[in-house]
Order: sequence, then C-alpha cells, then structure tokens
Amino acid sequence: MFQQPIPTLCRDGDRLLVLDQTLLPFRTERAALSTLDDVAAAIRDMQVRGAPLIGATAAFGVALALERQGADDRSLQHALTVLGATRPTAVNLHWALARMDTALRPLRPAQRLAAAWAEAEAIRLDDAQTCDAIGRHGLDILRALAATRTRPLRIMTHCNAGWLATCGAGTALAPIYAAQAAGLAVEVFVSETRPRNQGLLTAWELRAAGVAHVLIADNAAGLLLMRGEVDLVITGADRIAANGDTANKVGTYLKALAAQAAGVPFYIAAPHSTLDFSCPDGAAIPIEDRGADEVCRLRGVAPSPGTKDDEGEIATVRLAPMDTRVANPAFDVTPAALIRGIITERGVVAAGELAALYPERRQ
Ligand code: MRU
Repeated sequence: MFQQPIPTLCRDGDRLLVLDQTLLPFRTERAALSTLDDVAAAIRDMQVRGAPLIGATAAFGVALALERQGADDRSLQHALTVLGATRPTAVNLHWALARMDTALRPLRPAQRLAAAWAEAEAIRLDDAQTCDAIGRHGLDILRALAATRTRPLRIMTHCNAGWLATCGAGTALAPIYAAQAAGLAVEVFVSETRPRNQGLLTAWELRAAGVAHVLIADNAAGLLLMRGEVDLVITGADRIAANGDTANKVGTYLKALAAQAAGVPFYIAAPHSTLDFSCPDGAAIPIEDRGADEVCRLRGVAPSPGTKDDEGEIATVRLAPMDTRVANPAFDVTPAALIRGIITERGVVAAGELAALYPERRQ
C-alpha cells in the first residue's frame, strides 16, 4: 500500500492530528483537533481539504463528538448535523456521515463510542485501499498511451487530488505515483488553481516525490493543449452525478473543453464515495460559493531581508479593494460528454456507464 510521507489524518488518543493544509506548501505542521467544533472548523476553513479526506475527517469527527458529548441519539444527531453543514459540494462528506449513522444508530449508546472509532478507521483504510486500486487502473491507461510515444508522457492535472486530498495515494495522482513506481517516465503540468492555489500543493507533493512537473498559470492550459504538448488530462472529482456529469475544482470544465477541442483525452479519477446517484445530472449538484477574501487576497511567504526566497513569514497581500464585488464559486461541473473515462477502484468506465459498474448503488 502507498505510504503517505506524513499521515493526512490520524487518531491520537482522544484527539485527531491532521496535516494543516492552510500552511502548505510553506510550512509542514500538524494541527490537533479535540472537539466537534475543531473538526467542523478544520473542514470549513480547509485545514483539511480534498473530497475523500473531508469524508474521513468527518467520520473521525463523529467519534470525537461522541467521546466528548456522550453517545445518545441527540449527541449523534448533533454531530451529523454540524459536520454535514461544513462544505456542500464534496459528497464524500455526506457519504461518510451516512455510513457512520447507519453503523451507529442501531446500537445502544454504550456500544457506540468504540464502534464509532472503528467505523472511522475502516473508512480511512477503505480510502487508502481505494486510492491504490485507482492507481493500478489508471496506470493501464498511462502505459497504453506511453507505448505510442518516444518521450515521457505528459499529463495535465488541476487542483490537488494527490495524497494530501485523501488517506492514501490520492485519486488523480495515484496513477502518476504508480507510473513512477513502475519506472514509466511522466511529466506533469500542474495548474496553480486560483483562488486557493491547490496546484501549489500538487507541485509540493510531486517535488517531494521526485516526479517531473511544470507549474503553469491556470490560463496557460488551453495553449498547451492546443499545441499538442499534453497527452492526457486527469483530475479528481468532488461529486459525480448518475449520468456521469462531474463536479470538481473550478477551472476543471475549461480544461475539459480545451482538451476536447484539441482531441486530448480527459479522465476523472474518483472513488466510490464520490458517486451520487441521487443526483440525476450535474445541474442537481450543489456548488459551494466561498468568501470574497479568497479572490481579493493572495497568500505566500514574505522573505525577510537576508533570508532565502522561500524563507520568511507567511503573509497575505491584497490584490483588490475588499469591497470589490466578487463571485467565488469553488467548483464547476464538467458534462459527461467531455469525459473520456472515469477511473474508479473497480476499473475504468465511460462516464455514462457508471451505474453498470455500481449496480448496488442504483437509486
Ligand atoms: O476545495 P478543495 O481543495 O477541497 O477541492 C478539492 C478538489 O476539488 C479536488 O480536486 C477534489 O476533491 C478531488 S480530491 C481527490
């Protein structure tokens, strides 16, 4: 199994330790979460982020809430409600909470606490194994394409769908790590992903792993695709509707359109916990609107005199007056027709045929 360089999430007695992603890629620090409110804030403020990791963290948040507040029906319902309200788009959150509810509700309160920690741990392990399987299936695609090239395979991704976003290897990056382990040469185009710059997290991961990569401004993607400099695009997903329409980080749709125009295959890599067959299509997927400050401000390291470029304090600079009217949808929806295939832990399918791969999930 893929070993995360630093666990994104782990239990430490009666608290949780998470890798604080608001400090990356500048500082590597873990945050301790001790209460339900800590966990809800960590998800809302994106100390933990990425659909599968949000789900697993919420599951541990339920266990933590029962530990602190008792395990009666009221306490369980309160935890599910608070955590369920943190972020709307990634369905993994709601999937994990529903799984906790199903496992815990029928039990007597005295049995619930141990069961809650065990179920959260099972969700974490399931995600790690799922990422590995996505990596294996994605590697088949990379190998087939690489066989037609005489240079390293060039893969474009968006946002961060690597180990940071999961409890394992990641989703979109899992095939890339599998390729590296198999000795298949790849180079990754990483778009910075304004406004929260999750692409910088991807670049940080790839740099640490020794995977060749090139950081690009989001708006450079179209030109690179048009010029034939990209062999395929793989992104993660936050929610996939029954017809295969896929919500992912805002900007994904533009890449899919440009890939289609350039004849470059566009793939989504996602686990079963990202599927939402209760949404008939993308129009039914709730899209999170986030605050204006994310667009009006930029975060980075301010070097102090005499220090190297990447040393110094984390600081924010203002790009626009704070009373500027801003729209900040955090996700967009890529229609199934633009998606060559969805790479799941069960194999690769056409976006419109997902239901055949998960017959037990049909509504
Ligand atoms: O807002 P974020 O950073 O939580 O959004 C994350 C993404 O959109 C990822 O691409 C997605 O969750 C795929 S995760 C493996």
